Amino acid sequence: MSRDSTKKVLSVALLLCLVCSVLVSSAAVLLSERQERNKIEEKRKNILQAAGLYKQGEPIADLYAQIAPRIVDLQSGWFSDRFDPVTFDSRAAAKDPTLNQEIPAPLDLADIKRRSLYKEVYLVLESGQLQQLILPVHGKGLWSTMYGFISLADDLTTVRGFSFYEHGETPGLGGEIDNPNWKNQWQGKRIYGENGELRIEVAKGTVDKNDPNAVYKADGLAGSTLTARGVDNLLKYWLGEDGYQPFLERLQQQGLEP
Ligand SMILES: Cc1cc2nc3c(=O)[nH]c(=O)nc-3n(C[C@H](O)[C@H](O)[C@H](O)COP(=O)(O)O)c2cc1C
Repeated sequence: MSRDSTKKVLSVALLLCLVCSVLVSSAAVLLSERQERNKIEEKRKNILQAAGLYKQGEPIADLYAQIAPRIVDLQSGWFSDRFDPVTFDSRAAAKDPTLNQEIPAPLDLADIKRRSLYKEVYLVLESGQLQQLILPVHGKGLWSTMYGFISLADDLTTVRGFSFYEHGETPGLGGEIDNPNWKNQWQGKRIYGENGELRIEVAKGTVDKNDPNAVYKADGLAGSTLTARGVDNLLKYWLGEDGYQPFLERLQQQGLEP
C-alpha cells in the first residue's frame, strides 16, 4: 500500500481518532472524582465566604469544621433527618418529581417554577450556641439562574454576608453582584421589621444614608436594573412565607432544641 493511498490515510486518521477518544474518555473518568471533590470544596468555600469565615491560605477542610449542615423540611418548617445533610443536594432534588414541588405562579417571585421540598442549611455553632445560619437561595436574574448563600446572625434577621457562587449575568453589568463593594454593603442589613414583616429590598439606585429605613435597603446596580430586581425577588421569595420564614420564626421561638 502506497504511503499516500486513500486507505492508508483513512486508517491513520481512524487510528488517531480512536487513540484520542480513549485518551479523552480515560481523562474524564480518571478526573471525575477530583472534579467532584473540587466542586464540593468550591461550595464549602462559598459557604465560608458568605459567613465571613473564609481565610485565604487556610485549608478549607479545617475552616469548614465549624459548619454543621442540616436539612430543613420547608413544609413543616423544621429540621428533618430524612437525608444525610453532607451528601444531600437540593439542586438535584428540585429536579426529582418525588422530592420537588411546583411553586404556584403568584408565589413564584424568584421565577424558579419548582423547588426541592428540603433544603440544606448550615449552622455556625460555638459551644452549641447558634452564631450564624447560612441559607442557600436562588432565582432568575436577566440571563441566568443565580445561586448564592445568605448568612444571618444569631438574631436571624441581621445579614452577616451574602454572595453568589454561580450565575451567568454579564460581567461589568449584572455580574457586579460579585463586586466585593456591592457584596460588603449587605453586612448589617436587616431582613425583618419590628413585627417580623419582610422588609429587605434592593433599592432602585443608591440608598440614602439618612433614610430611616436604610437598614432594610441595599444599593441597586447601575445599568443592571433587571439583575438587581432578580436579587430583590429571590430574597423576597426565600426569606418570605413560602421560603424559610416559617422555619426562621420557629427557630427564633424554640431555639435549636427539638
Ligand atoms: C450586551 C448586554 C448585556 C447586558 N447585561 C445585563 C445584565 O447582566 N443585567 C442587567 O440587569 N442588565 C443587562 N443589560 C441591560 C439591560 O438590557 C437593561 O437595559 C438594563 O437592565 C436596564 O437597567 P437600567 O434601567 O439600570 O439602565 C445588558 C445589556 C446589553 C446590551
